[in-house]
Amino acid sequence: MRCRTLSTDLHSQPRRAARRERAGASTLLGATAVACLLLAGCRQDMHDAPRFDPLEKTNLYADGRSARYPVAGTVARGHLNEDAVFFTGKDAGGQLVATLPMKVDAPLLRRGQERYNIFCSPCHDQLGTGNGMIVRRGYKQPQTYHSERLRTQPVGYFFDVMTNGFGQMPSYAAQVPAKDRWAIAAYIRVLQLSQNAHLAELSPADRQALANAGQAVPAGDQEHHGDASAHGGRGE
Ligand code: HEC
Repeated sequence: MRCRTLSTDLHSQPRRAARRERAGASTLLGATAVACLLLAGCRQDMHDAPRFDPLEKTNLYADGRSARYPVAGTVARGHLNEDAVFFTGKDAGGQLVATLPMKVDAPLLRRGQERYNIFCSPCHDQLGTGNGMIVRRGYKQPQTYHSERLRTQPVGYFFDVMTNGFGQMPSYAAQVPAKDRWAIAAYIRVLQLSQNAHLAELSPADRQALANAGQAVPAGDQEHHGDASAHGGRGE
């Protein structure tokens, strides 16, 4: 823009003045060009930031990679996982633990129920018999939690399956944090008890309630009804 104005001006000047002007103009042009060149070196846009792009090559390191390996033994923030039992479900000898590494109370079981219904029931169903909606739509059917084999597994087994996956079932460690996996494992115990409780395990009050309920219902329906009230009472 500026240059064009300059050259139109030149044509309108008388000759001598024009020559003087031309000399001045070329000095100006030269200075501008040098300044432009110098300034171009300083230009730094965001698309060309002074950092390495992922996988970018560099001559700085002998292996030619700009990315460096973390120092051996580096622990990502929030991933110290020092408590082996809590994070693996296994003790120091590698044996699955039979007790939860935390206090089991009603809030934990309720949390486990909620998480189980969200993450597990789509395949295992809300009772754990392995007839969830995804299975009914063709996914491999898991075995029921109410078999002798799974009732006698240590609770760490369920934690381990959720953490590492099992056969066709993927790991749930990414979606369900360790504390919730324990809550779910505890809730699976609740489900198992709900289908396999023995009269002797009930408190005298519950046994009495069961006996009363049994008398109140018509014969034939008795067994079913007695069952439901026993478990309903426990679940509340
Ligand atoms: C997408 C469907 C699906 C979901 C969701 C799912 N599972 Fe499974 N699960 C399976 C299948 C299928 C198997 C059997 C895998 C095999 O035998 O290859 C299985 C196996 C298991 C077993 C091992 C049973 C045995 O036979 O020893 C346990 C325990 C288990 N699941 C617990 C869970 C828990 C707890 C959750 C929720 C965090 C869950 N699963 C979520 C499909 C699922």
